[in-house]
Amino acid sequence: MPRLVVVTGGKGGPGATTLAVGLAGAWAAAGRSVLLADLDPAGGDVAAHLPTSDLRRGVAPLLGLAGSRLDAAAVAAESTMAGTNLWVLNGLPRPDTAGLLHAAAAGALLAAVRGLDAVELVVVDPGRLLPGSVAAVALRAAEVAVLAVRPDLPGALAAQRALDAAKELQGLAVVAVGAQRRRSADVAELAEALGRRVAGVVPADPRAARRDPGRSATGPGAAWSSLRGAGRQP
Ligand SMILES: Nc1ncnc2c1ncn2[C@@H]1O[C@H](COP(=O)(O)OP(=O)(O)OP(=O)(O)O)[C@@H](O)[C@H]1O
Ligand SMILES: [Mg+2]
Repeated sequence: MPRLVVVTGGKGGPGATTLAVGLAGAWAAAGRSVLLADLDPAGGDVAAHLPTSDLRRGVAPLLGLAGSRLDAAAVAAESTMAGTNLWVLNGLPRPDTAGLLHAAAAGALLAAVRGLDAVELVVVDPGRLLPGSVAAVALRAAEVAVLAVRPDLPGALAAQRALDAAKELQGLAVVAVGAQRRRSADVAELAEALGRRVAGVVPADPRAARRDPGRSATGPGAAWSSLRGAGRQP
């Protein structure tokens, strides 16, 4: 049964999708078999980060499947190979279908994903964390739960609100995305503002979203080693 790694963020686009793609790419490059699942109800961004993926397939057709027809075989049929060891379940092509990808539908999808025996890790991008959101459901199901946060004041406020939406969650790993190299105080201040330690740091990189996932020393895959250091390596 694959382990679930869920990467979410609060308001303001802190870099959750970029981090999810980077982590999935880094683990695939390290030889793990990975499915990157885009469950963002606001519309999928994951495919834009990848060199290949068949845009005709993805999560949208799965939402029309009732009950027992939504199983691991259906998820596999809608997934596309995006690189060595890396599969992707594309997100919603248009936000007008967002209403179909609600928390209950996400729960059923994640149950189906759990049946994918050929995959070791499923990295889920569930969109932004709000009370009752897809992200809230996915985080509860996750073995590794990650909150991407920008290390500045608006980022800390957005993270605080997101953490309020997930109060009951133990072990949510905060990863600071886009940290300026010369400003390590920003990460320390973030930890102080949130009252919890920052488990990983991804350096600021204006090309983060365009790098080959997992192959860049400065890209989001760099958070992998930080997560490992924090005991969050799945
Ligand atoms: N390490 C980084 N350094 C600098 N910019 C970054 C970094 N990671 C991501 N970004 C940029 O931040 C912006 C938002 O990234 P991304 O789409 O991953 O955020 P998100 O949290 O998934 O947003 P949303 O909540 O809208 O889904 C993009 O322009 C991306 O290129
Ligand atoms: Mg996103």
